[in-house]
Amino acid sequence: MSEQRRLPLVVLISGYGSNLLAIDDYCRSPHGRASIVRVIADRPQAVGIERARARGLPTVVVDYRSFASRRDFEYALAQAIDAALPEPTDGLILLAGFLRILGDAFVARYAGRLLNIHPSLLPAYPGLDTHRRALEDGATEHGATVHYVTAQLDGGPIIAQARVPILPDDDPQRLSARVQRAEHKLYSEVVDSIARGAVRYENGVVIRDGKPQSQPPCRTFSEP
Ligand code: GRF
Repeated sequence: MSEQRRLPLVVLISGYGSNLLAIDDYCRSPHGRASIVRVIADRPQAVGIERARARGLPTVVVDYRSFASRRDFEYALAQAIDAALPEPTDGLILLAGFLRILGDAFVARYAGRLLNIHPSLLPAYPGLDTHRRALEDGATEHGATVHYVTAQLDGGPIIAQARVPILPDDDPQRLSARVQRAEHKLYSEVVDSIARGAVRYENGVVIRDGKPQSQPPCRTFSEP
């Protein structure tokens, strides 16, 4: 696939960056239709930033602690994003384990291009600690969701989901590891569907294959 036709991606991380690496694997695969143009971490100690550098990906740290306000941090973040994109209104911004809550103005600036992956079958379990909460509730299934980001935390239009059955001997670590394996496939599949033009965002609605999506696709990942 020629470079010109690739969808540019800016990936925002705070931690290990396993989703980042999975998306990069997709980009480098023979069927990849996107390309990571910049990885941005909000803290210098994010392990994922080293892993990205080791792959030769362009990286920038925008350290949230060096700004006086969230507004100033988000201004610098937006500059780092826009500087990496070949066209200011083209490309996706992918939150992949990015631990900052983004303000309304930032979210509005990238409406329809800002995606997040969340470790639950939203609307179940927004927020943190989703694996433990699902286990404590005696849930039989858990999973992951990729959604467009809106001002409502973990509440934007859902693009696709991955269902992961909960096993009798699961603990939060085991369950989280299985959900993460599903996340890695799910996020890349969603990026691919947008890069192919099969999925897009219009006025707060996910359009799939030219029609408003009423029910997001939800594939079951039952491998151990
Ligand atoms: C993922 O489990 C994702 O669902 C959540 O944060 C985690 C990030 O993991 N938003 P990694 O940094 O991609 O390994």
